[in-house]
Amino acid sequence: MSESPASAPQNRRAFLKKSAKVSAGLCAGAAALEGCGLLPEPEMRICTLAELETVPYLISRFNGKQIFVTHLDGELVIFSLICRHRRCTVEYDERDDIFVCPCHDGLYDAYGQVLDGPPPGPLRRYRPEIRGEEVWVINEYVKDEKPAEGQAEEGPSR
Ligand code: FES
Repeated sequence: MSESPASAPQNRRAFLKKSAKVSAGLCAGAAALEGCGLLPEPEMRICTLAELETVPYLISRFNGKQIFVTHLDGELVIFSLICRHRRCTVEYDERDDIFVCPCHDGLYDAYGQVLDGPPPGPLRRYRPEIRGEEVWVINEYVKDEKPAEGQAEEGPSR
């Protein structure tokens, strides 16, 4: 079936209208997915500097995972509390100032370095950012260390 030349612009217009609707739908869908937590947030406000000064540390959630926010040697640090072994959530032991993984007894020191157990590398650190008086977390790791041979790589939330 062939088209008459007169109907071509109308078809083009209809096509562009449909394309615009599909694009708008995709954008709205992406926003809805992000709102539902299905797409990772690129960044998140955690607290104010003043709030962080009143506590030794705080635990929050970023992209569905726990993060640990504190100062180490005067530096703002944000750890991912996801174990580097099999991705269990590690717990902070305030008494001994260590992180303990309940799954296979992995231990990390206060700097996130492995003390004992199967974890192939230190706890990941998210990039912190101070904006005015606010503390933000950015969905990027500070250091990209290679995991030990044969271990699955864990990237920031994608
Ligand atoms: S998952 Fe943490 S030690 Fe295995």
